[in-house]
Amino acid sequence: MRTVHTLAELRAQVTSWRQSGEPIAFVPTMGNLHRGHIHLVERARERAPRAVASIFVNPLQFGPHEDYAGYPQTLGEDSRQLETAGLDLLFAPNVAAVYPRPLEEMTQVMVPGLTTVLCGASRPLHFGGVTTVVTKLFNMVQPDVAMFGEKDWQQLIVIRRMTADLNLPVEIVGAPTVREADGLAMSSRNGYLSAEQRAIAPTLYVTLQATAERWRTGERDYVTLENAAKTRLAAVGFRPDYFEIRHADTLQRPTPEDTTADLRIFAAAWLGRARLIDNLAVATFQERSVN
Ligand code: PAF
Repeated sequence: MRTVHTLAELRAQVTSWRQSGEPIAFVPTMGNLHRGHIHLVERARERAPRAVASIFVNPLQFGPHEDYAGYPQTLGEDSRQLETAGLDLLFAPNVAAVYPRPLEEMTQVMVPGLTTVLCGASRPLHFGGVTTVVTKLFNMVQPDVAMFGEKDWQQLIVIRRMTADLNLPVEIVGAPTVREADGLAMSSRNGYLSAEQRAIAPTLYVTLQATAERWRTGERDYVTLENAAKTRLAAVGFRPDYFEIRHADTLQRPTPEDTTADLRIFAAAWLGRARLIDNLAVATFQERSVN
């Protein structure tokens, strides 16, 4: 595996692969990798002869009081995992390589609508930062296909919308959430949990499953279902941010008649300093997840 830090080095390698007709699959990350990321790299290798990943903690997608400054930087260990997974090229730029001018002067990419609900309601700057950096990374890496985890479902559909709206020639592939044995979705922020909080954390997924089960048995009073879930989470020590049933593709709220629609339950809740998010397909109930 080769590691490059500058756009010039990246471009030279990517250009040579493109000239020899080798498609490129791309996995953008912020590092501090876990098995979910490695699964994305493995999927990338199945999709194209060349696999590229990036590690870049993107300042533009963090709000002023969020965890940008303390976000774990583990490049050495991340590199070892990526090499073992068979990655061809790691792009690890610094902030100046991605944003050569002050952030507030940089051109930004915004996706309206989808980004104002769920995580976008509580993190108003977040998705603008994500879509801006992903657009830039796509232009830098020039991939044919890019992989994103379904744990960040809203991010996945926002990036799909952006890619379609901007006619970017990149196929967006979603990969199932990778879970710990007790159901907790893998996340770089799980490392913020104390032992006591880690024991409580799987309740988020258990509550998603319980709500899906109530939906399957015919309950259609969405507000009652959501409030019951938030009460259950609060009772074990979470501070719920949102727990909402929405259409999977449009993120619109369903009506009670939407029985066959492709609905999903979305949850975000604080446990200590960790803000955990997760989601589950309600109609199919058994999610395609990977342990
Ligand atoms: O999902 C992430 O890790 C980030 O939001 C991404 C897509 C790498 C953009 O910084």
